[in-house]
Order: sequence, then C-alpha cells, then structure tokens
Amino acid sequence: MDLGIFIPIGNNGWMMSKNSPQYMPSFALNHETAVNAEEAGFEFLLSMVKLRGFGGDTEFWDHNLESFTLMAGLAAATNKINLFASVALPTMEPAMVARMASTIDDISDGRFGINIVSGWNQIEYSQMGVWPGDWYLEKRYDYATEYVKIMQELWADGVSDLKGEYFEMDDCRLSPPPRDGKVPLVCAGQSDRGMEFCAEYGDFQFIIGTEDLDVVRNDASRLVAAAEKTGRDVGVYVLFQITMADTDEAAEAKWQHYKDGADLEAIKFLIGAAEMDTAGATAEKIADMQQAFNLNIGAIVGSHATIAARLDEVAEIPGVKGVMCVFDDYPVATKEFGEKIMPLMASR
Ligand SMILES: Cc1cc2nc3c(=O)[nH]c(=O)nc-3n(C[C@H](O)[C@H](O)[C@H](O)COP(=O)(O)O)c2cc1C
Repeated sequence: MDLGIFIPIGNNGWMMSKNSPQYMPSFALNHETAVNAEEAGFEFLLSMVKLRGFGGDTEFWDHNLESFTLMAGLAAATNKINLFASVALPTMEPAMVARMASTIDDISDGRFGINIVSGWNQIEYSQMGVWPGDWYLEKRYDYATEYVKIMQELWADGVSDLKGEYFEMDDCRLSPPPRDGKVPLVCAGQSDRGMEFCAEYGDFQFIIGTEDLDVVRNDASRLVAAAEKTGRDVGVYVLFQITMADTDEAAEAKWQHYKDGADLEAIKFLIGAAEMDTAGATAEKIADMQQAFNLNIGAIVGSHATIAARLDEVAEIPGVKGVMCVFDDYPVATKEFGEKIMPLMASR
C-alpha cells in the first residue's frame, strides 16, 4: 500500500483548534516534512490550493503558500518521492499549467503530478474576479474534461488544436514535453460525476476517510464501478488524520485536548453559518460543532500498533491502493510514523 502526506501548505494543517500546534506555512516547514517523509519511505506528497481562509481566533487557512511554486522547490530538494500540486481550474489556463507541469517534471526527473480541483468554493474565485458564473457549478466537470484533454494533447503531441465549448486552441504548442509524454493526474471529487471524471482521465482518486470503514468501502466501490466502465486502472487513495502516541490513552487525551480547543468562529465559516451566535448556542450544538474541528476527515487515534492495525484494515478494502496522512505536528509525526508505525504494517 502506498503512503503519502497532505503537506501543510496552509497554517495549522487540518486542525481548527487553539490547542493544536500553531504554525505558519513556510518552505522550511514543508521542506523538513518532505525530507523526513522521503527518509521514512513515504511514496508521495500532495499540496492543496486554498485561496481564502476561514478566519476565527486561529486565522484558519488565512495563510497559504502557492501549490505549484512550493512543489517546484520541493522537487529540487528531494530525490525519489512523488510530488503532486493542485490546480484550481478557474484560476489558470490549461496551456500554462501544462507547461508548468512539464517544467516541474524536468526539475523532479519525472516525479511530478497534478491534482485537478474543479473548484466549488465560489468566494475563492470571485474575490479575484475569475468565478466563471453560476453555470459553472453544474458544468465544472465538463469544463475539467476539456481542460485536461488540452493538457494531455500538449504533453503527448506537443500541440493542441482543440475547439471546445470552453476553450479554443489555435495550433497551441508545448516543448519540451514531460519525460513520458504524460503527467499523472489525481482527482478528489466525491460526487459520482467527480468519480466518473477521474475514472476517465485520472490515475488516482482521493476519497475522504471516515471512522466507519463501511463508508470508505462504499465510496471505493463507486470508483471501482466507474473505472470498470472506462476499463482503466485507477487506484483509490484514502485521506486520514493520524494522531499517535505511545499508548491509546495518551493519543486519545491529545485528540481530546485538540478538540476542546476547537475554533468555533472558523468552524462557523466551514459549515456556512457565519452569522450564527455561538454565545447563545446550546451545549449540544457547541459539542456538535467541535466535532468538525478537523474538517471532518476520518480520524485514526491511538498507539503505533493501533494505527498500524487500522491502516492494514484499510489496505484490505477493494480498490484501495494507498492512504494519505494528515498529521498534527508534521516534521515530528512524519519521522515517528516512519520509525514506529511503518515497520508494524503488514500491508507494507
Ligand atoms: C484529498 C483531497 C484533496 C483536495 N484538494 C483540494 C484543493 O486543493 N483545493 C480545493 O479547493 N478543493 C480540494 N478538494 C475538494 C475536491 O476537489 C472536491 O471538489 C470535493 O471533494 C467535492 O467533490 P465534488 O467536486 O465531486 O462535488 C480536495 C478533496 C480531497 C478529498
């Protein structure tokens, strides 16, 4: 089973909490994480594209580096780990992104791929005047299809003349091409349409992990069914939040401490309830909101042995080819995971 890391391109990683490690994103932090990941034996790193934060006391995700630029830096500073940057389609033209990708393919000697983000959070794009309009939500995967076809033509043939509904190429050229005449694509749409798109054009499909593995099983089976229709080999990568300690109790206590510090103002933004008066909310409602402090990414909390056993269970799910980890304290956890969890995993 492949293992990857969703690296901390935004402040505080994936915990909207006043009690979790507080940090700004920086090249130094991501570089240290990448070097530790490579040494530990992780197969890949992915950075997201996030253009507008959630605010709150922790200024959650108000601070984010740019994904391609960061991965280009990491490409030059690593030797064997695979690297994925994310593109939010409304923000950049496909011919430019194809060229950026073939450049990072060169820097990394063929270790680079792209996460295709069709784009759903309107404010990220409208703030810079590039939201295509209301029609986009409905049509975004049709738009993504033309976008990806253009890039794939440029990589394979060095030229695209595609005349589509959304793009018109006019003898558009690209050279030098990437090493293999292609660049791997990953996608993270959770809808059936998103998965169909990945089954047609992607190499890996990300799904959001849940504590109930039957939900993961069901989501993976949707991708497997879509890939059977296209006859392509597309692996599922599952996203999990890993919190480890020497004992289950110590890990649970750490997790509870993070949850107790939930940044409710930032969570309100996430759940689309910015106007809500939390001072007047019931204890039940507050507890409910606190649950979302880790953006509802499935949590695996426990000792090293507990986590290794759980990941082995995930590896058994049909269609699953890997797990992408989110950590609390990145450089430290990356090392600890490599030293204490990987050796216990039967699936490795
Ligand atoms: C692992 C993973 C990575 C993602 N990366 C990004 C990202 O970088 N930027 C972003 O705006 N959305 C990101 N998303 C959201 C997806 O691109 C997608 O829009 C979302 O899961 C909803 O699915 P749908 O588009 O099929 O409705 C990510 C989701 C997952 C699970």
